[in-house]
Amino acid sequence: MVLRPPAKVNLSLDVLGRRPDGYHALRSVMQALDLHDTLEIYPADDLALDCDVPALGGETNLAWRAAILLREETGYRGGARLVLRKRIPIDAGLGGGSSDAATALIGLNRLWGLGLSEERLAALGARLGSDVPFFFYAPTALATGRGETVVPLPPLPRVHVVLLKPHTGVSTRQVFAALTPALYSDGSQTEALLATLRANLPPSAWSLSNDLQRTACLLYPAVARALDELRAAGASNPLMTGSGSTCYALFAREEDARHTYERLHGAGNWTTLTSTTTR
Ligand code: C5P
Repeated sequence: MVLRPPAKVNLSLDVLGRRPDGYHALRSVMQALDLHDTLEIYPADDLALDCDVPALGGETNLAWRAAILLREETGYRGGARLVLRKRIPIDAGLGGGSSDAATALIGLNRLWGLGLSEERLAALGARLGSDVPFFFYAPTALATGRGETVVPLPPLPRVHVVLLKPHTGVSTRQVFAALTPALYSDGSQTEALLATLRANLPPSAWSLSNDLQRTACLLYPAVARALDELRAAGASNPLMTGSGSTCYALFAREEDARHTYERLHGAGNWTTLTSTTTR
């Protein structure tokens, strides 16, 4: 089985406030990208994970933890060999680890013939990370709660995306912890985005926003520089995704996206040209 866990970006991310359980209440439109990892799953007697990024080969890997969780929940005793090739950068706000976990749940449910519903798998995924359930409702969805309550939205037209990730990865926990109540919002930015999407406006007119961006820029100046570099390379409205550190810009025309990508490529940061997934 060869599967392709996609990356995501947050087109909006409203932080509504801090919850009694320490998480933050969110309202976010999430969008899957064509950029993806590759997860191969083979029948095997024992569980094993091979990852081309050695640091991710251990038991903290979310795909591995997904496999363990699925076995624990169902009492299934068999194994599988997971071969994970990473193309989505780590600690980047692109949901790579979460997507690997969601894809492992889907693939192993199939391989092991467990027959769990997507809803049940998504609920298991939520125990691994707030972003995991989105990947069951991709390509476009509205996430609420701590991010784990997801409803699909009508898929958007294909849009070209330039991603720029500074060398610094970020700590999601640290970014959320540094938020002050003055930076909370009421969800109206996501509503504004949904209105621009419903109106079929071009991506340059989409009302993108991220309540974590200001804090991430203060904690990690490289994020602010990445936004400046995107602007200098021709992006009109760049934004950070998730808790960072990746920043992105959207383009209706591939030619414009390529122009920006080519101006950034080779300048030291990780950059790529991809597009939104439409189905
Ligand atoms: O859910 P996940 O494990 O991905 O979250 C990582 C960390 O990010 C949490 O431990 C928490 O500190 C922070 N977080 C938060 N509110 C959310 C999601 C994450 O405060 N809605």
